[in-house]
Amino acid sequence: MKRGLFIVLEGGEGSGKSSVVSWLKDELPKNDFLFTREPGGVENAEEIREVVLKNRQEQLNTFTQILLFEAARHEHVSKKIIPALEAGRHVVCDRFSSSTYAYQIIAGAGAEYEKLFLEIDRTARNGLEPDLTVFLDVDPAVGLQRKVSSHDPLDVFDQQDISFHEKVREGIKSYLQKRNHTIIDAGKAQNEVREAIKEAVLHYTENHEGQ
Ligand code: TMP
Repeated sequence: MKRGLFIVLEGGEGSGKSSVVSWLKDELPKNDFLFTREPGGVENAEEIREVVLKNRQEQLNTFTQILLFEAARHEHVSKKIIPALEAGRHVVCDRFSSSTYAYQIIAGAGAEYEKLFLEIDRTARNGLEPDLTVFLDVDPAVGLQRKVSSHDPLDVFDQQDISFHEKVREGIKSYLQKRNHTIIDAGKAQNEVREAIKEAVLHYTENHEGQ
């Protein structure tokens, strides 16, 4: 059985990632593509999601956040992502390790944990690396404005100030520098962004199938 490809969608707040994902789910053949998300994707990781995204008076320490995101990732990778790839399906995952690096290590001022994070993360994902990351890049000022006007509930990270989100953007870019990725300008009109992402995913899977 030919192994599927592992594709990650990354993007800051208000990049339109969630709406792209629900549109893409209907556009791509269901038998070939499995859609999932982080933190979450399997029941026990969805439970961890509730804990880690909850708005609380006293925030979780950065190191605690790292451990929770990695615990959720380990459950998700081993119980859902790897089995699907081995069954020959492509997996499209909304966020992955690039988010932990950007949100916790860079924006969350967790630089002292960087080395530890890289080690824990490798174990948590059973050594699995994304084949491709598609980054929906948007100016954080525009993204946050979109998020506020959408009236969607804001999680603990949405509520951080603009400088936090600027660091997230830089963190994602620097994490992806040495990894296979493509950047989509998510400041453009929604239908252009959607088509560009679909094109990037299909182009990659069609050109890498059977390798
Ligand atoms: P989202 O699914 O709506 O994008 O929300 C997930 C939130 O969790 C988002 O604010 C980014 C944050 N997050 C981290 O801080 N670290 C991580 O490792 C992951 C996967 C997400």
